[in-house]
Amino acid sequence: MDVVLVGLGRIGKLVARRLLLDNSAGLNWVGAVELTRDPELFSYTLNYDSTYGTLDTRVEHTTDSLRIQGLNDVPLFDDLTLAIEETSPDLVVDCSGSQKSAEILLSRERTRFKRHLFAQPLDLIKRDNDSRVWVYGVNDSDFDRLKIPRNIINPGCLNNCLIPLIACLNEQNKIMKGSFVSVHSVTNTQPTLDRAKRSPRWSRASHSNLVPAAHDSMSLVDHFFPELKNKLVGRTVRAPVNHTSYITCNFELNERTDTDSLLRCLTSTKIIPTVFGVDQEPLVSSDYLTDPRSCVVDGTSIRVIDGSTALLSAWYNNEYAFACRMVDIANKISQAS
Ligand SMILES: NC(=O)c1ccc[n+]([C@@H]2O[C@H](COP(=O)([O-])OP(=O)(O)OC[C@H]3O[C@@H](n4cnc5c(N)ncnc54)[C@H](OP(=O)(O)O)[C@@H]3O)[C@@H](O)[C@H]2O)c1
Repeated sequence: MDVVLVGLGRIGKLVARRLLLDNSAGLNWVGAVELTRDPELFSYTLNYDSTYGTLDTRVEHTTDSLRIQGLNDVPLFDDLTLAIEETSPDLVVDCSGSQKSAEILLSRERTRFKRHLFAQPLDLIKRDNDSRVWVYGVNDSDFDRLKIPRNIINPGCLNNCLIPLIACLNEQNKIMKGSFVSVHSVTNTQPTLDRAKRSPRWSRASHSNLVPAAHDSMSLVDHFFPELKNKLVGRTVRAPVNHTSYITCNFELNERTDTDSLLRCLTSTKIIPTVFGVDQEPLVSSDYLTDPRSCVVDGTSIRVIDGSTALLSAWYNNEYAFACRMVDIANKISQAS
């Protein structure tokens, strides 16, 4: 299946790296779109990464393309419409987070090619009648061969961690209400030094501060678990690390349980192990540099208070695991096509 990648930032670069390394994927990378059309710069940013190190496969460049050992050249465009016209992709994987590119993909261009996969739940995309949210590992059965919509939303790293965690606990214990705090690594939405941005806290230097923020996609949790509407609240705190986040949840359960039963419930889940796991060692965030799982429960953190309130934490590499899910979903779409 021919794929065009929009945005070669943190997520787009990791998706590109997976497309290059995973030869069995059946995904053929035929074009990339970036606002700056500079193949030399983007071959450099694909080759080198301050967090994940140097790419094994060398990416070279021509005047208008990325040149990758053993593969066809990948043309680089600064115009999404032109990229689609020239490459006729089956799937556009949009990792730009850009409202503008979403508007193009949802509007007049929509009849010209088949599907779009978005790395975020912009309202514009959610409102489209032919859009659906895919939390890989949780609602895969909604996307069988005949039911793949035109617009697919992968709804962010925190939702990819939290939704499987709730789904797993709900297999044996019903969650009645709860709260969570996610300590989240830095992203490019934060300034390196203080700089006026969209709100006061978002204006503060990323590597000098813990920066509290609201978690603004509770509606997705409500969508998957309507019984929890207005019964679950959460927030995030940006922390000065380059990768990997840690969510701590406090859930009130409907049935009495204990730590061992909760651990058994988590380790016997139906959710696939490439998405969900439990680690029993006392690890720290740097141990999750290239962990592809969306949600890894910190088995050492599980506590049950008074038989019905569970406290537990989970790791997720907000960049790497999320990028793996983008590729997983693209692969499923390819297999269904
Ligand atoms: N980072 C995370 O932990 C994470 C996790 C899960 C989901 N996400 C989601 O993934 C998306 C990307 O996040 P990111 O962290 O990768 O951001 P990023 O590092 O800022 O990368 C976005 C890239 O897209 C480019 N871009 C912006 N508008 C574009 C357009 N109209 N056409 C083509 N390219 C465009 C940007 O170029 P410029 O730099 O020139 O603007 C930048 O290179 C967002 O929707 C985000 O919510 C991020």
